[in-house]
Amino acid sequence: MSARHDNVKPLKSDGQVRLVLDQKGLDAARRSLDDGAVTPSYGPWREDIIKLLNDALATEIVCMLRYKRHYYTAKGLSSPAIAEEFLVHAQEETAHSEQLAERIVQLGGEPDFSPSNLLDRSHADYDESADLQAMIRSNLIAERVAIEAYSQMIALIGDKDSTTRRVLEAILSQEQEHADELSDWLTP
Ligand SMILES: [Fe+2]
Ligand SMILES: [Fe+2]
Repeated sequence: MSARHDNVKPLKSDGQVRLVLDQKGLDAARRSLDDGAVTPSYGPWREDIIKLLNDALATEIVCMLRYKRHYYTAKGLSSPAIAEEFLVHAQEETAHSEQLAERIVQLGGEPDFSPSNLLDRSHADYDESADLQAMIRSNLIAERVAIEAYSQMIALIGDKDSTTRRVLEAILSQEQEHADELSDWLTP
């Protein structure tokens, strides 16, 4: 894994800038069949990216659990519509966790579903509020934390792994929708 994506830059020849591929990277991709879809362009970043994705996976699982808790305990409260929204978010956080786990495996890593240190690895918190507005508030805080974490991950990854970046961008836009929806329910 010596070739790096960073080496793929427009090449200057005869005073002209040319867009050409790095042949060494292509040759290395041909050689290491054991790495599956992981090609040398991931270079030294693969392990860091897997760690970032595993922390995001822990966050999604905690968010799913928090929304489930809120869905079941908010049921008897004033707004069934808000409880339904919590359920939809729980399902979408579950889908996010599956996308992240799938990408971790594609990168040759192991998705960490261990419950033992889930909260330590998660960026967002669990919450057992009984009051509906307190639930909405804690979910909004968690969504804002998730938005910040995904934005930072996307900036860090940049062009080092475009597939992972696209996965994260799609998740980020859904977290922004979640935050928007929660803001609408929040009474000032
Ligand atoms: Fe999510
Ligand atoms: Fe979310």
